[in-house]
Amino acid sequence: MEARLQKVMAEAGIASRRKAEDMIRAGRVTVNGSVIRELGTKVDPERDHIKVDGAHLKPAQPHVYLMLNKPKNIVSTLNDPEARPTVADLLRGVRMRVFPVGRLDYDTEGLLLLTNHGELSQALLHPRYHVPKTYLVKVKGVLSDEEIEKLQKGVTLEDGATGPAYVRKIRKAEQNSWIEMTIHEGRTHQVKRMIEAVGHIVLKLKRIRFGPLTLGDLETGEFRYLTDREANALRALLDRAESPHPGALSGGEEGVGGERPPLARKAGWAKARPPARLVRKGAAGPRRRRAS
Ligand code: URA
Repeated sequence: MEARLQKVMAEAGIASRRKAEDMIRAGRVTVNGSVIRELGTKVDPERDHIKVDGAHLKPAQPHVYLMLNKPKNIVSTLNDPEARPTVADLLRGVRMRVFPVGRLDYDTEGLLLLTNHGELSQALLHPRYHVPKTYLVKVKGVLSDEEIEKLQKGVTLEDGATGPAYVRKIRKAEQNSWIEMTIHEGRTHQVKRMIEAVGHIVLKLKRIRFGPLTLGDLETGEFRYLTDREANALRALLDRAESPHPGALSGGEEGVGGERPPLARKAGWAKARPPARLVRKGAAGPRRRRAS
C-alpha cells in the first residue's frame, strides 16, 4: 500500500516524521535509486527500494500497545542502575521490545502505556499536545475549596507555573481525603508537587486514565494489550498532532468506551462516586471504611 515517504520512514523507526522530512530535504533518501527531495512523494514499502544514507529501510515492525497496572515499588523504566525491580519484570511473554510512554514514580501505581510506536510515544509526551492524565490521589488532610481553586487555576512550582488542574472531590475521612486530579503536563513529581504547593502531602497516587485510555479493573501488576478501538483512539491523537493546530489531545475525557466505567476499588483506595461530593464528617462513605 502506498504511503508518504516520511510516514514510511517513521513507521520503520528511522526517525520522527519531522526528522524524516529533514532527511528527505537533505537528499539522504533514495527510492529505486533516485534521490527524492519532494516531501509528498508516495512510495510502496513492499515494492519500492528505499534507502536512507545508502542503507535499506528495514520493514516496519507491527505496532504493539499494552497497558500495565504498575504496582508501587517498581521502577517504570526497563532497566534500573540500582537493580530494583522494573516494569520489564512484569511483561511476561511479550516478545516485542516495547518502551514505557513516560514515567511514573517508584511509589506511584496505575496506568502505564508501553509501545514500540516511537512516534506516537513522542507525541503523547510532548507538552504541546496536553494529553490529559488523571490520578486518584490520597491526600493527608482535607483540601479546602480555596486550595482546590488554586490547583484549578494552576500553581507556581520551582520550574514555573503549571497549567490548570481539574480536581474532583471523591471522599474524605477524619485525617485524609481522596481526590481525582487531571493534569495536562508531565513534569517530574508534578501531582505531588502541586499538592505540596497548596500545603498538603500525597499519601498515595494512582494513575487511572491516560489520554483516551482507562485503567478499569486491570489488576495491579497485570498487563493487557490494547483493543483495536483503544489503539485507534491513540493513533487518532497522532493524526491530530500532525495537523498544524492540534489543540488539546484529549481523545475524549470519558475514555475509549464512551461512558466512564466505575473505578475499580482496591484495598486502601476510595471508590469514586459520581456525583463526587465530600461526605459529611463522621460518615465514611458507602462501606463506612475509615481512612488509614
Ligand atoms: N505526578 C507525580 O507526582 N508522580 C507521578 O508518578 C506521576 C505524576
